[in-house]
Amino acid sequence: LLSHNFSSTSNNYAVQNISVYGSGLMGAGIVQVAAQYGFKVTMVDLNQEFIDRGKEIINASLKRVAKKQHKDDKAAQNALIEYTWSNIETDIDSVRGAEKADLIVEAIVENLQTKQNLFQQLDKVAKPNAIFASNTSSLPISEIAKATQRQDKFAGLHFFNPVPQMKLVEIIKTSQTSKETYKILNDVIMKMEKAPVICKDTPGFIVNRLLVPYLMESIRLVERGEASMKDVDTAMKLGAGMPMGPFELCDFVGLDTLKSIVDGWRKDGKIDANLVATSKILDDLVESGHLGRKSGKGFHKYV
Ligand code: 3HC
Repeated sequence: LLSHNFSSTSNNYAVQNISVYGSGLMGAGIVQVAAQYGFKVTMVDLNQEFIDRGKEIINASLKRVAKKQHKDDKAAQNALIEYTWSNIETDIDSVRGAEKADLIVEAIVENLQTKQNLFQQLDKVAKPNAIFASNTSSLPISEIAKATQRQDKFAGLHFFNPVPQMKLVEIIKTSQTSKETYKILNDVIMKMEKAPVICKDTPGFIVNRLLVPYLMESIRLVERGEASMKDVDTAMKLGAGMPMGPFELCDFVGLDTLKSIVDGWRKDGKIDANLVATSKILDDLVESGHLGRKSGKGFHKYV
């Protein structure tokens, strides 16, 4: 019934206001790109400290993008920066943050219960037609969607790090996601000048399903003493055209993130156990707080 009602109005439905929940690296990146391409965006997080950190992430990244796009034109750089900020509001009240939204994108902590709680709350206060999307990389979209009464308007929208640079967005359709919802999300992604791909609600979707086993096998290869970390990185960059070697990429993604994806999949039991076997090096690094670039050390050191 819901999806039927929705389809009767969907021809006129265009997303203008987007609320992004979570102002970490992914959330801030999504806010930035949406604002750059003309959406009115509200960045929502639990307190002002998190919001300020998110603004700093946007500020640094936006300057970088402006310089890349308008190399020697300082005025054009400033215009892009000002235009983008003019489209961004922030809020630390999660209910108020949802009121205007035509689309809500969630990029908060990777915990099923926390995400379900948020969406359950937002379901009651958001516009009836608002579409809900999660940027989760490791949790089933259908499980998160169950917390709402709008499963037809619920999908995965999976961006990649760094969001302003990476062209791909995976749109994940559950068995309940309506065609209209998919189409609207597809239009939003196109307006952001990114490339959408569509995938069923399966572990890792497309990119992580292939990337995570590759990263884990790289670690195990070194663990078995077959080659050095440095040579594996060099090999995959120069022999397979990867922009970063697997160890550089592990550090970039965050070793805690990688470990939590692998641990989750292993528990879940849906993926071949060999592909998600543990690695002692990885476990030890995470245990000692060496999480990659963000902590200054992972497989490599960062000053
Ligand atoms: N905003 C924020 N960070 C940016 C950025 C931007 N607009 N542009 C580049 N970066 C950052 C990196 O953090 C790094 O930072 P540093 O300068 O502080 O050391 C820097 O990129 C390197 O930038 P360069 O300008 O030297 O390099 P390029 O711009 O040519 O390429 C890259 C950078 C696009 C990151 C390229 O190396 C690449 O494609 N790497 C692979 C990235 C990748 O595979 N990402 C997906 C990870 S999986 C994922 O996100 C899924 C999740 O669910 C786990």
